[in-house]
Parts: sequence; C-alpha cells; structure tokens
Amino acid sequence: MSQLKAWRSAIIHCIADPKEVGVEQAYEYFEDGMLIVKDDKIQAIGHAADLLPTLDCDTLVEHHPDGLITPGFIDTHIHYPQTDMIGSYGEQLLTWLNTYTFPEEGKFHDKTHARDVADRFLKELLRNGTTTALVFGTVHKVSVDAFFEASEVHNLRMICGKVMMDRNAPDFLTDTPETSYQESKELIDTWHNKGRLHYAITPRFAPTSSDEQLKLAGKLLNEYDDVYMHTHLSENKDECAWVQDLFPESKNYLDVYDQHKLLSERSVFAHGIHLCDSEYHRLHETGSAIAFCPTSNLFIGSGLFKLNKAEEHKVNVGMGTDVGGGTSFSMLQTLNEAYKVIQLQNENLSPIKSLYLATLGGAKALRLEDKIGNLAVGTEADFVILDKKATPLLSSRLALSKGIEESLFVFMTLGDDRAIKATYSAGQCVHQR
Ligand code: GUN
Ligand code: ZN
Repeated sequence: MSQLKAWRSAIIHCIADPKEVGVEQAYEYFEDGMLIVKDDKIQAIGHAADLLPTLDCDTLVEHHPDGLITPGFIDTHIHYPQTDMIGSYGEQLLTWLNTYTFPEEGKFHDKTHARDVADRFLKELLRNGTTTALVFGTVHKVSVDAFFEASEVHNLRMICGKVMMDRNAPDFLTDTPETSYQESKELIDTWHNKGRLHYAITPRFAPTSSDEQLKLAGKLLNEYDDVYMHTHLSENKDECAWVQDLFPESKNYLDVYDQHKLLSERSVFAHGIHLCDSEYHRLHETGSAIAFCPTSNLFIGSGLFKLNKAEEHKVNVGMGTDVGGGTSFSMLQTLNEAYKVIQLQNENLSPIKSLYLATLGGAKALRLEDKIGNLAVGTEADFVILDKKATPLLSSRLALSKGIEESLFVFMTLGDDRAIKATYSAGQCVHQR
C-alpha cells in the first residue's frame, strides 16, 4: 500500500542557477508551505492553504511552525576514512598526507574497522543534513564494500570508489595498475546503480598514479556510460609544481587527466584552485565539475577558490567539505567559510547562490538533478527540516531578519548540526535531533 505524508512549514528550494536567471527567479519560497510525499517521492509542493484541502482527513500532517524545509544537502567531495583525523595540526597538503592521512588510511584493510567508521561517518553526515555525497574510500577494496553496505541500510543516494594509487605512497597503501583496474571493475559490477548507489573511479591525484594506472582508469571510465570519475586537481602550489616535474609532457595539471581520457560529464575534480584559462575551458568543454571545498582550502592553507572564473567559463561547481582536510561535516558551516573565501576576493556570495551550490548545483555537478537537488514534484524526497529556534542566538537573530534571504544567510552563518531538526532520505526519517 502506498503511503502519503505531509509536512507543513516554511519551505525553500532552488529551481535554477541565480547566475543564469537572477536571484529572484532562482528559487521558490513558501512562507506557510506544504510538502506532500508519496512513498519515496515528492507528490506536491506549494502553499499550505492550497494543498491542505486536497488531503484526505486521515493523511498524517507534521507541522513545524519554527521550521524551514530545504532539499537535502549534497557534498561533492569528502573522504570517509579521514573521519577520525579531522583537525590534524600544522601542515600543508603534501606533508599533511604523509604525516596524518596515509597512516590513518592504512587501518582500512580491516573491514570491521572500515564498517565502524562508515557507520559513524554516515551518521555525522545525516546529523548535518547531507543526504548525498561523493566519497573517497581507501586503496582497500573492502573499504568500499563497507561503505556501500552501510549506505544501503539507510537507502541513501551515495557515490564512492576505491582509491587507485601505485606510487609515491607507503607500500601498505599501494596497488598496481592491473589490480586497481580489476578491483575497481569488480566493485562497479557489484555496486554501481544498485538501489541508490553509484561508483566513482578514484585515482587519488596525479602524483600517486603512474601513467599506466591513469591510462587504465581512463579505459575503465570509457567502458561504462554512467560511472563517475573522482580525483583531486590543482589544490596546492607545491603539488602543482610536483605534477609538472612528474609529467613534463603535459600542458598543465588538468592535461595529465585529459591525456588519459579522464574528463567527462561525470568527472568531479576537488579544489581546482590554481587553474589557468585553458583548464577552465577544458573543464567546461567536457562537462566536468569542480568541488569547492572552502574549509579545507583554508585549513590546509591551499588558497582561495575563484568562483567567478568557474562561472565565467560555465564550469559546474558543487560544494565539498573535504573532511578530514576540511574541518566540518556541516554544509551550513562550509557555506559560512565559502562566503569568507569570496569576501577575500572583494566579491559577494549571495545566500541563494550558496543554497544553490549546496543543493541543485551539486546535483547538476553529479548529473543527478532529475532525482535530487530540489523539491520538484516527482523527485526523491531527500530533505531537511531546519530549526529557527535551534540555539538562543539563532532564535534572536532570526527574529530580526527581514525576509527569507536574510534568514537563510543567518542559518549559513550561525548554523551547524544543531540547526538540523530532522533529515529525510527517500521519504524516511534518517536523523532526528
Ligand atoms: N590530494 C591527494 N589526496 C588528498 C586528500 O586526501 N585530501 C586532500 N585535501 N587533497 C588530497
Ligand atoms: Zn580531498
């Protein structure tokens, strides 16, 4: 028997990129709104006054007068194995990897450990209102099995992949071109498109893969229509110089991946801070996306992401927390830092653009906008109920805000996991504070 349920609350969602249609045309807001969900999909969205009369008297209606419903947040770049090393002190990328990251990732040969971390990681995402993420595993195949098994329990739309890494890393974390190809293929055959799960071919970054490995990654990507490719790009200046040394034949950093046929509509590159015009252009041309990871870029001192350049070249952009280089699982806190990154470049990041990047923009970057990213009728019921009274400060500050855009901005400045009252995935409650 199909099940109908309704939520009455303020509701906001994006319907387009404010850069393309202007802020006013980019979102819908219902001050006293209603969201009606049938099984796992959105059946109706609108004003409560219009939709209430359409409901049978026995339909369950949850009323949240202090709530604000938004689509579930989408994190386009995060590492689940780095959950327990978040906030590791004092280093920039290359030293940070050797000092903290590689030893931590070494623990994931053990599937019991991997499952324990995956369970806690997902719980943390859901506490923060994130319902979809593009996730790094480790080099160990079991790390990805553990992650997908944990995601299946909550029926989450998640994307993950096994790291491919055959050089410039400790022996206990390296594979070979052939084993990485074979194991990735086996994982694709087991998990890709199983329920709401998808696979991402995941070479860590150019310095930790040989030409042979990148070539096989490209071959694998081109053997499937709709598998993802997920890696890092141009994050740190020393890293960029190292890539030039390692790949003297390449025109630039992105060209290393391009030469190995790794650019596609389902390719997501984390960071992309130090790019030249021809790299933005090539990202646009191939339909590739960048994950903007402000808390990580500030914390490990990588630099300021140039959102205006990405927009100018019409490159798809989503938000990433990049935990454990990033310092928060909270998309609200990630948008807080994004605002500051853009301020430092003498520009503004509007609250509607921020909401767009964390929801529909992320969905577009992942080519999932027909399924998730907003609350359009027929899409999957992944949504969040924010709480305007979550903390005394949020409550008093929101009481003074004039209109939804200011309220949204206050949520993004002061909000964190405490602001998430409940999280729903495919119509089911997966977190309640
Ligand atoms: N580049 C290569 N590996 C990593 C990683 O684990 N985190 C970040 N932030 N950058 C990387
Ligand atoms: Zn990363």
